[in-house]
Amino acid sequence: MDRAVQRTDHDAIASKLSAVKRGYYEDEYLELFCPRFEPRLPLINIGTWCRVRAIDQAITEFLEKNTEGKTQVISLGAGSDTRPFHLLPKHPNLVYYEIDFPTQVRKKAAIVRRHLSQKVELCDSATPVTLEGDINTSRYHLLGQDLRQLSLPDLDESVPTLIISECCLCYLAPESSHLVLEYFASRVAHLSIVLYEPIGLDDEFGRVMAENLMMRGLCLPTFQKFSTLDSQTSRLRELGLTHTISAKDMEQYYNDLPSAEQKRIHRLEFLDEVEEMNLLLRHYCVVFAGK
Ligand SMILES: C[S@@+](CC[C@H](N)C(=O)[O-])C[C@H]1O[C@@H](n2cnc3c(N)ncnc32)[C@H](O)[C@@H]1O
Repeated sequence: MDRAVQRTDHDAIASKLSAVKRGYYEDEYLELFCPRFEPRLPLINIGTWCRVRAIDQAITEFLEKNTEGKTQVISLGAGSDTRPFHLLPKHPNLVYYEIDFPTQVRKKAAIVRRHLSQKVELCDSATPVTLEGDINTSRYHLLGQDLRQLSLPDLDESVPTLIISECCLCYLAPESSHLVLEYFASRVAHLSIVLYEPIGLDDEFGRVMAENLMMRGLCLPTFQKFSTLDSQTSRLRELGLTHTISAKDMEQYYNDLPSAEQKRIHRLEFLDEVEEMNLLLRHYCVVFAGK
């Protein structure tokens, strides 16, 4: 099961690369983590672009609100995500944590060490990177941990902190995902969380989605418990994150995009499957909340 969950990182990065190659957005670092280009259908490219845009938007909002002093972003199940390499050089007060299984982190750390440590100034003279395993510099922490045994003894709990779960917590049992979020909610006073998760298991599309995942050895226990936008929002509210900054299913997110953005997207490639795209978008949500 853990192996199947780890493989979902390849799907995520390959879909992101497909969207980038089609011109939806730019990311010069993706190919380091996904050398082989596997083109995706237009509806997948649009869904991927919306997902990336929604999380980026939450990060930007968080950073714009907290311009005084240090800030922290902690990405749960970060996989091959490239955001720290874009964000760290631009935000000198930002400390970025990425957590994933040790096997995933070993692969990522090797690529970061080989190609990115100089380029994006991940190292500093005070904390040189070690030769293998986790990376710990003063501003970038790439940590190999199973989130079910999460332990961050050196975390600065006094700093405004944003937790990201971009398609990660859905792979944990509800009790485990609750413990992960509670770990931060009970420690960090100035906390924001952004979740991008699947929803809508209770209709035909959702059931087929779940069956397809089961065939790949994946079950989404949290998907079953938090299967609506409301339940995703309430789980954060119950943890004390009562200020809901935004909560949308991705169909609504897409419909609310500025029309210039939508026009730009429509010019990139011909989309035949509009209804299918809306159905797909309706089965994911983004919830951003703070306390
Ligand atoms: C679908 S991928 C998403 C990767 C990245 N967040 C993105 O959106 O591009 C899910 C990631 O969560 C990680 N993950 C799932 N359960 C985990 C756990 N218990 N501990 C650590 N990482 C986990 C997987 O290894 C995988 O890299």
